Amino acid sequence: MQPRNANATSEHLRPDAAGLSRAAALLTQGACVAFPTETVYGLGADARNADAVAGIYAAKGRPSFNPLIVHVASLADAAGLIDLGADGQVLAQAFWPGALTLVGRMRADAGISSLVTAGLDTLAVRVPDHPVAQGVLRAFGGPVAAPSANPSGRISPTTAAHVLAGLAGRIAAVVDGGACGVGLESTIVSVAETPRLLRAGGVPTEAIEAALGRALAAGEDDAAAPTAPGQLASHYAPRGRVRLNAVQALPGETLLGFGAIAGDLTLSASGDLQEAAARLFDCLHRLDAMEASAIAVAPVPDHGLGRAINDRLKRAAAPRD
Ligand code: TXA
Ligand code: MG
Repeated sequence: MQPRNANATSEHLRPDAAGLSRAAALLTQGACVAFPTETVYGLGADARNADAVAGIYAAKGRPSFNPLIVHVASLADAAGLIDLGADGQVLAQAFWPGALTLVGRMRADAGISSLVTAGLDTLAVRVPDHPVAQGVLRAFGGPVAAPSANPSGRISPTTAAHVLAGLAGRIAAVVDGGACGVGLESTIVSVAETPRLLRAGGVPTEAIEAALGRALAAGEDDAAAPTAPGQLASHYAPRGRVRLNAVQALPGETLLGFGAIAGDLTLSASGDLQEAAARLFDCLHRLDAMEASAIAVAPVPDHGLGRAINDRLKRAAAPRD
């Protein structure tokens, strides 16, 4: 399939009233528009329009078994698309708008293209906490399917420049809202049955369990699992080979530091996990820009946001084709 606007340039829109209404008009026409959320930039299309959603897959070069997250402006809008159930209500009240995606049984009249769910009877929904994302959603007035705005298998974008570096000419526009504050994708929890962690992310697991008052069921964070597709093993990949838990660089390696391990560049010199999350993808993009062919990464503690950071780093280090 030819990506939309294959021979055109992508519009670089300001996050003002004119930019938001242009973004909404393009979405209404069935075009793909990238916009910032508090986690990463998303590549949005009208979730009710199969042609528009196909444009996302085409622009990203994404495997079609990977279902998409639908973004809406409010909890009420989300409740019209999926059955949140009692647990989902608790989590939505606690964390929306925010970096949490809830997967629930899709309502019969949700009107979402089956290309969004890749044929599943569940749907992933999120209410983002970013003024530009909210502005786009409210100006458009409908559900927007949006995966991260990067070519499939590449590093997620946390600036408009990252988006254009990967997708310029393949998407209609990007709304530039500066750098993303959280910098890691949303945490995904399924509330279709017993609450289950599908992907670690911007909301720490501990905070979700505290709100629920009980532990989440074990994850199905696995490309082979039929109910949680899409977590390809090799993902978030910089071009160079990646070695984890390194206390120093071997000859020829570029070291990505954390805390006391300084490195050639650092996730957080003070060992702050929130700062490390916000900087993670930008550091991986910088390593690409530096043409680092062998990358060593300092250990990151495996609690709070550190779990999501380590999940992304493991994918960056996974064997690839
Ligand atoms: O922070 C985020 O979540 C960003 C921003 C743009 O919102 N979006 C994002 O989307 O990371 P994406 O497409 O890169 O990741 C979506 C993940 C995939 O791993 C997919 O398999 C999973 O959500 N997913 C979507 N629908 C699902 C469903 N019905 N059941 C299980 N997993 C689902
Ligand atoms: Mg992604």
